[in-house]
Amino acid sequence: MKVIVTKNDTEAGQKAFELIKDAMNNGAKVLGLATGSTPVKMYEAMVNSDVDFSKMTSVNLDEYVGMAPDNDQSYRYFMQKHLFDKKPFAKTFVPDGLAKDSEAETKRYDQVIADNPIDLQVLGLGRNGHIGFNEPGSPFDATTRKVPLTQSTIDANARFFANEDDVPKYAYSMGIGSILKSKKIILMAFGAEKAEAVKGMIEGPVTNHLPASVLQNKDDVTVIIDEAAASKL
Ligand code: GLP
Repeated sequence: MKVIVTKNDTEAGQKAFELIKDAMNNGAKVLGLATGSTPVKMYEAMVNSDVDFSKMTSVNLDEYVGMAPDNDQSYRYFMQKHLFDKKPFAKTFVPDGLAKDSEAETKRYDQVIADNPIDLQVLGLGRNGHIGFNEPGSPFDATTRKVPLTQSTIDANARFFANEDDVPKYAYSMGIGSILKSKKIILMAFGAEKAEAVKGMIEGPVTNHLPASVLQNKDDVTVIIDEAAASKL
């Protein structure tokens, strides 16, 4: 794991964007993308650049179950707003929150990943060490699944909804096994509330109690964190 500590998320987003450009210059065609506040500055750097993404494909990590793509809390909406509406891609994939048959949707998404092998995956980090929506206890070999969200994640997301009952309780998420298949990984984390998870991910044992710790076993992982997130290292 290569660890880069930056002053703030703007510098981190710029750094992550440079790594994306390097990968594209070396032939990368498929980007694995993430939502949440963490990658926002990276998307800003992409949007404000003159880089052409119109031949690129993106595969997103996850989506809330039951959420329509035009709901402003859906991850599809987030991606359109922060990136795709401003920088068109050739193809963009996000799990379908409205899929009627969960089993069929997870199979379909595994096929999407098989057909579009990810060259570079961008990840954020949950406060409890989750990646995508692979919460503590998730098996390291899992493929795309419908997963229940933990109370900690529901609490963290509650700020975006009028009341807690509206916060989705399930999501479709790429599994850790799918994430580990990507050639390169960039994980970003910012703020003191991520410091404990960052410490466990980098210095702790590899355990599915802290899903991101599995990245210690993977080649070509770059962790980009700000000083607050690095404060317990
Ligand atoms: C959600 C997402 C993750 C994201 C995490 C952290 O749980 N499914 O992909 O990494 O939140 O969110 P934030 O970046 O807003 O801290």
